[in-house]
Amino acid sequence: MLKYFFSIFVLVVLLLVTVAGFRGQKFQKPPIELFPDMDHQPKVKSQVPSTFYSDGRGNRAPITGTVPLGYAMPQHKSVDGSAGESQSPYKQVHFSGGVGYTDTGKMGASWGTGMPIEVTPEFIARGQERFNISCSVCHGATGAGNGIAGKYGLVAIANLHQDRILQMADGEIFNTITHGKNTMMGYGDRIQVQDRWAIIAYIRALQKSQGGATINDVPATERAKLESQNP
Ligand code: HEC
Repeated sequence: MLKYFFSIFVLVVLLLVTVAGFRGQKFQKPPIELFPDMDHQPKVKSQVPSTFYSDGRGNRAPITGTVPLGYAMPQHKSVDGSAGESQSPYKQVHFSGGVGYTDTGKMGASWGTGMPIEVTPEFIARGQERFNISCSVCHGATGAGNGIAGKYGLVAIANLHQDRILQMADGEIFNTITHGKNTMMGYGDRIQVQDRWAIIAYIRALQKSQGGATINDVPATERAKLESQNP
């Protein structure tokens, strides 16, 4: 009887020591990894040398004729308004980071409205191009919510001509483009800040085109031309 008691006692003590005894102890050696979970990958870290490439550098220079993400296509200086050619063929653009209205759509604690960038015909044309590339697949070319993605099963795509969005502050739309909304993903990492505003300017033009416009939206000079054509 005593023999059993001692064996069980020894086992329990051993068990206690294994479970609790070595806690808090520091090991010099790396732990044994049964499932390494891809912790160690054969990869090149930024700015380190590499024997793989003949020039000995780990980093690759951008391929001639391509534009890295985060940079705009080089523009003729008459287009981007720069005084002369910059040293770099690319012009860095920004995706976010600021805390002001232009970068967040917020004025204080609420959504602001109004364009922080001057609206010109070129700006709206840029917005049209960007809208057609990024938004029309779902929202449709006119913004009616009837893009091709609907045919492939995406439901409840917002119609951008509904009253709620006509009334919506520009800043809130900016935020929807940046962060998405419910089933719509965010485009903050793909559409630069300036282009988001260009898209909003174009959405406003689309909204006017679908019944929101009055004759007062036509500039006086253009109105005079129209009136002389159709008296
Ligand atoms: C993959 C499809 C898809 C794309 C691409 C897409 N959207 Fe959406 N968008 C949706 C869906 C779906 C909703 C409705 C989300 C919801 O349930 O409120 C929506 C909602 C919206 C709304 C209304 C948000 C609200 O508060 O109700 C706006 C404004 C909008 N999108 C603008 C855009 C703009 C601008 C782009 C292009 C940069 C864009 N969307 C690209 C699918 C898309």
